[in-house]
Amino acid sequence: MKNLFSPLKLRELELKNRIALSPMQQYSAMKGIPNNWHLVHLGSRAVGGAGLIITECTAVSEEGLNTLYDTGLWNNVQMEAWKPIVRFVKEQGSKIGVQLWHSGGKGSNTHPNEGMKPLPLEKGGWITKSASSTVINGITAHELTIEEIQKLKMDFVSAAKRALLAGFDTIELHAGHGYLFHQFYSSVVNKRSDQYGGTFENRIRFLIETVQEIRKVIPDTMPLLVRVSAVDYLESADAWNLKDSLALSLILKNNGVDLITASGGGFAHVDKSMVFPNYQLPYAMEIKEKIGIPVGAVGLITTSVQANDIIVQDRADLVVIAREHLRNPYFSINAALELNIPPEIPWQYHRAYSSIKPYS
Ligand SMILES: Cc1cc2nc3c(=O)[nH]c(=O)nc-3n(C[C@H](O)[C@H](O)[C@H](O)COP(=O)(O)O)c2cc1C
Repeated sequence: MKNLFSPLKLRELELKNRIALSPMQQYSAMKGIPNNWHLVHLGSRAVGGAGLIITECTAVSEEGLNTLYDTGLWNNVQMEAWKPIVRFVKEQGSKIGVQLWHSGGKGSNTHPNEGMKPLPLEKGGWITKSASSTVINGITAHELTIEEIQKLKMDFVSAAKRALLAGFDTIELHAGHGYLFHQFYSSVVNKRSDQYGGTFENRIRFLIETVQEIRKVIPDTMPLLVRVSAVDYLESADAWNLKDSLALSLILKNNGVDLITASGGGFAHVDKSMVFPNYQLPYAMEIKEKIGIPVGAVGLITTSVQANDIIVQDRADLVVIAREHLRNPYFSINAALELNIPPEIPWQYHRAYSSIKPYS
């Protein structure tokens, strides 16, 4: 019977266990270039035993940034800076994926330590662009032209090519949390009347065409992952819902996507009462069951037993852990110990465990 430490194979990529570090913005880069912070942040979760490390959302163009402190992959300086991070993570036996993204109308903000407020143009801010000129975060974005949409797709393709050169094992497209792909597929923002707006097929077109273009340039052996917001958590009639996510998931699957992580929200504050252990797991389960595609479960998964149960009960294929990994970089090693499964411990640390039964 499989458990949290059973390998997971996606195309030719084999993860040593079912635990992923969820992408988390660190707001610690300059000019999109990752640095020692990212090496230690990602590297220590690899030392801690996670089978898959996913980088924070990484912009495919400068205008794709959310703040001036996010990572990027739109130039070769950034690509070179990712290389030692990728190498180190792989040396620990983990696999590493880059989360590619464009923030669209949610861009041009100050650093979280400065309140994440709209960044004025005179302080380095920029005019954001989105599916429509709907107000997001108090800023009215400009509507993208068709030519700009075509160029954006190619920005994703160029970033994907750089990801290959940097040595990443996989790519995840961030299509949730109110960022650009989500701004297109949810009618809450998308008010277009051309081939990228209106009907469901039109609203998902930007994402699907991008997936198709990326699949053309990455090897058949490499899995492609997508994170969606399964629901908007909004009452409005325009809101994206689980039925839409199921229809989207089928089309993503048919276009060569290998795993979908079901997250949620992005356009409005989610009430605390909606956030409880496994709160988004039902979305992942539904996608897995109805569409037959591997899924990642994310959202308040904090304990070894909780994570193991998700896999043992076949409710999801991958457990994607964010904040608990910040508190506990060695989540995977500790989970194995708690579940009485022999942990994979870096040899440098063996002496710390030599007195712990049954490893003594
Ligand atoms: C500091 C921080 C930064 C985040 N940045 C990203 C990100 O870059 N990309 C993303 O898809 N989700 C991001 N998230 C959301 C998490 O990946 C995750 O979906 C969410 O925190 C729920 O999981 P958790 O309960 O395990 O923390 C971020 C969350 C936190 C706490």
